[in-house]
Amino acid sequence: MKGHLEILPTPDALVQAAAEQIARALIESVRARGRASVALSGGSTPRGVYSLLASDQFRSNIPWQGVHLFWGDERCVPPTDAESNYRMVNDALLQFIRIPVENVHRIVGEGNPAEAAALYERELRQVFGLQEDGVPRFDLMLLGLGEDGHTASLFPGTSAVNETTRLVTELYVEKLNAYRVTLTFPVINHSRQVVFLVSGKSKAPILREVLQNSLLTYPAQLVHPSSGELHWLVDQDAASRLETVNQQ
Ligand code: 6PG
Repeated sequence: MKGHLEILPTPDALVQAAAEQIARALIESVRARGRASVALSGGSTPRGVYSLLASDQFRSNIPWQGVHLFWGDERCVPPTDAESNYRMVNDALLQFIRIPVENVHRIVGEGNPAEAAALYERELRQVFGLQEDGVPRFDLMLLGLGEDGHTASLFPGTSAVNETTRLVTELYVEKLNAYRVTLTFPVINHSRQVVFLVSGKSKAPILREVLQNSLLTYPAQLVHPSSGELHWLVDQDAASRLETVNQQ
C-alpha cells in the first residue's frame, strides 16, 4: 500500500481529522511560502469537511487571504446547478469565509468543455507563474474515490487517465452521459501533499482493491506524488474490507 493510511472510527472523526490536516497544510504553506494552493475535491464526502473549516473552530485560524482555492475537477454544469462542485464548496465554505475573490479559481464548466479546460490551464499557468512546460505544484490536493476507482474526474477507460502533457483536460463520461473537466495526473502527482478522503461502507470494496490489489487497474492507483506525501483518511466503514493493516 502506497502512502500513509489513517482509519478513523466514525464519519465525524474522519471529517474532524481531515479539517485538521487541511488547516495545518494551509497554515504551514502560507507561513513557509507566503501562500497556499489547494485543489478541492468534489462529490459529497468532503462537504462536511468544508463546513467544518467554515466553522468557528477553524475559520479564523486559517489565513484565507493567502490561500488560493482551485478545484480538482468540475461537472460541466452552471455554478448554480445542484451537481456543481463549485456550488457545493460555495454553500459549505466560501460564503462563510473572507477570501479575496481573486483567490477563488473556479472551473468555468458551464461553457464548452474543451474551452473550459483550456481556460483553466491558462489560469493555472498564470497563477503559478509557469513557463510553457511547467507543472503547478499544489501544496494540497484533496481527492475522493469513486466506487469504480476513479478520482477527480479521471474515470477508468477514458483517455484522460493517460494524459501526460496537458494540465487540465475535458472528457465525456459515457456512463454518466456527462462532460467533465479535470486536473490530470502530471498535476496531481506533482503535489506536495495528496489527501484522499474515503467514507462509508459503499467504498469498502473499491478501497480494498485500490490499496491491496497490486495490479494497477484503477485510476486512483496511479496517484503517487513523486516528491510529496500521500495520505489516506478513511473511516472504519470504508476500511471494513481491508486485510488487517498496521495503522501508523
Ligand atoms: C466529483 C469528484 C469525484 C468524487 C468521487 C467520490 O466531481 O464527483 O471529484 O472524484 O470525489 O466520485 O464522490 P463521493 O464523495 O460523492 O462519494
